Amino acid sequence: MSTDRIVGTFTDFFSERGHQHLTGGTLLPPPCDRVLFTTSGMHPLTPYLQGRPHPQGTRLSSVQRCLRTTDLDEVGDRTHLTVFEMLGSWSLGDYGHSQSLRWGYELLHDGFGIPPERMYVTVFGGDGRVGPDSESLDTWRELGLPVESTRDENWWSHDPVGLCGPDSEIFVWTGGLGVPPQGSPTTDPRWVEVWNHVSMRYRRHEDGSLQPLQRPCVDTGMGLERLVTVLQGHDSVYDSDLFEPWMRVLPPLWDLDGTSTRLVCDHLRSGIAVIGDGVRPSPTGRGYVLRRLIRRALTTLWRDDPSRTLSDLPGDVVGHTLDHFRQPRGTSPVREVLLDEERRFGRLLERGRRVLGGQRFEGPLSEEDYRYLHDTHGLPRDLVTTLRTP
Ligand code: SER
Repeated sequence: MSTDRIVGTFTDFFSERGHQHLTGGTLLPPPCDRVLFTTSGMHPLTPYLQGRPHPQGTRLSSVQRCLRTTDLDEVGDRTHLTVFEMLGSWSLGDYGHSQSLRWGYELLHDGFGIPPERMYVTVFGGDGRVGPDSESLDTWRELGLPVESTRDENWWSHDPVGLCGPDSEIFVWTGGLGVPPQGSPTTDPRWVEVWNHVSMRYRRHEDGSLQPLQRPCVDTGMGLERLVTVLQGHDSVYDSDLFEPWMRVLPPLWDLDGTSTRLVCDHLRSGIAVIGDGVRPSPTGRGYVLRRLIRRALTTLWRDDPSRTLSDLPGDVVGHTLDHFRQPRGTSPVREVLLDEERRFGRLLERGRRVLGGQRFEGPLSEEDYRYLHDTHGLPRDLVTTLRTP
């Protein structure tokens, strides 16, 4: 099943069940939000989960692009991505958690063809303050799926204070078609979590107390790239059709090891999506995140060949990425932003090498040196470190 078909199957499924599909899905949260980028599918819906009526009703679904830089050092492995998409469905005080789980099972089984013997679910087993989630337990038992109860793993909260509640996660066996499932989600990592259904029913206060919400909601989120990888039977997201154009073009273009290829691929793809949402490189805020992504990709590319250039990146790959994220910006202006940042970074590196070659910087650098290099020559600390790494 192609990624496009997977997304279409998801959105059709929920619209047939009365959900309004939210379009847009930009990486930029509304102006009043204190975070720079949208970090999850539910993120833009937080005020509505807290009780505000949503103009499009009480049943919603979306495909939301998200950006997270918390796992930046993991990028380059087979699964971590900086920009990814979440498929989400919500009941804002409409149907209950049990209905959400039933539809979750139906979509995975009938829509995506996952046999029940390759599924395992987890539920909240209670923690002394909140009792076990028996509604979910009963629902899964009725549906005939194996269930594992946990404590903390099945309690969802984003911040110490705010919305929270028990959740139920659906796992799929990825041990290979001929290998019968073994163990359980907490004992065998080949069980991969694909879909989280949260019963959003409490608000946690500063003092730790839990206040039941007047209008409990259901909030579900499923990482698209992980789902695609599982459904297409791959170990690595980079082997899925989502990355096919990138992985076809990059290795012949730049001869890098696997980790570096994946890092460059992720960062450039994410950079394009961020530019596609209207951000430009700058020394602070969102622009700085974008700048870091592009410069990390360039640092990797230039490590063993400074003649590599983003002008060799085919426009098709840029265009494909913008299309995938449903971003109408033309390919040329986006490429121009990448190339302009490459030129700036090149000039900065040249200056940095010249300055750091001076006698003053031969030994270990003091805090004052770092300050001077930053304030007088515009050389950020991480760049200085990179330039001094043999
Ligand atoms: N709140 C859940 C999550 O972020 C489902 O959207 O994973």
